[in-house]
Amino acid sequence: MTCPEVDANNPQGVLVDQFGRQHVDLRVSVTDRCNLRCTYCMPLDASFMNQQKLLSFDEVTRCVRVASEMGVRTIRLTGGEPLMRPNLRRLVEQLMQVSRIEEVALTTNGLLLADQAAGLAQAGLSRLNVSLDSLDESRFKKIARRSGLQRILEGLEEAGRQGFRSIRINAVSIRGLTEQEIVPLAKFCRERGFRLRFIEFMPLDADDIWSCKHVLTGQEVRRILEMHVGQLKRIESEDSGQPSVDYSYTDGQGIVGFINPVSQPFCDRCDRLRLTADGQFRNCLFSTSDWDARALLRDGGTDKDLGLLLATCVNAKHFSHGIGTKSFQRPLRAMYQIGG
Ligand code: 5AD
Ligand code: SF4
Repeated sequence: MTCPEVDANNPQGVLVDQFGRQHVDLRVSVTDRCNLRCTYCMPLDASFMNQQKLLSFDEVTRCVRVASEMGVRTIRLTGGEPLMRPNLRRLVEQLMQVSRIEEVALTTNGLLLADQAAGLAQAGLSRLNVSLDSLDESRFKKIARRSGLQRILEGLEEAGRQGFRSIRINAVSIRGLTEQEIVPLAKFCRERGFRLRFIEFMPLDADDIWSCKHVLTGQEVRRILEMHVGQLKRIESEDSGQPSVDYSYTDGQGIVGFINPVSQPFCDRCDRLRLTADGQFRNCLFSTSDWDARALLRDGGTDKDLGLLLATCVNAKHFSHGIGTKSFQRPLRAMYQIGG
């Protein structure tokens, strides 16, 4: 197939929005199910999508191929918890065969990693992000509302043996809850060569408890860390597509990053699009609309139709999420229904 012809709003036929941002990264959620119930992402009594609505691996691959012909180069698989989707390594293999796709990465909670890490590495997965907010069993349970810390640590150990290009740990920071995790997590990651990134709590929790006062900012987290390890040194990120502000430790051993979507939005250089598990394109985590790829996939839509849908979705992208402004509207979907 050649590049789909796109409308007058997008004459270049590539995924450039009205603010000149080109989109090269597609986040694909493969399930909304999860084996944890993190307070900032899911309700305790979550109900899940009808299985028939989930895109098949072939449907996902078709969307990725069309997106790749419009400039997408990297894919990140997310959930819910993506490793709950049976045989995920097969999807990784399929996506790695799409000619323009340069990299397939995964964001996981790590609970099922010990068993799957080797297969994923063989399938060509290059980068792994593991969500881990606490190294203390009781605080872990308070946040995730289920146990599993030990299994995650075993999963990380196994992943460490598999030679992934990078393993990063994502830790969400919540005021009054995670301050005491900062130093132990930093030490843990530094000793093992994992890159740690602290992420500010965003208004995507299902229980609607988020408020500005719960946001422990990246700057505050850095100050707390610096009290224990000395001043950190700001460094340029290796990967310009990454939203994290990176620092190295003074002894040169290790890097720690801060993803500050609330206090320092990085919307101006956003290059991400999303495909939800039920087949909806989205142009932002905070988008209040979806663009229905599933309907096209299942009603005989052509690749050109899919390309036009994606171009329309990109063209409608807002400049910024607007968290903290009067006009900010939370999306109807919580994090687990979108994909991180
Ligand atoms: N705010 C910030 N980060 C979140 N994540 C999930 N929900 C939120 C939220 N409300 C993180 C997870 C995971 C990644 C996909 O996003 O911890 O690392
Ligand atoms: Fe599951 Fe990740 Fe959401 Fe926690 S943040 S409930 S691990 S999808």
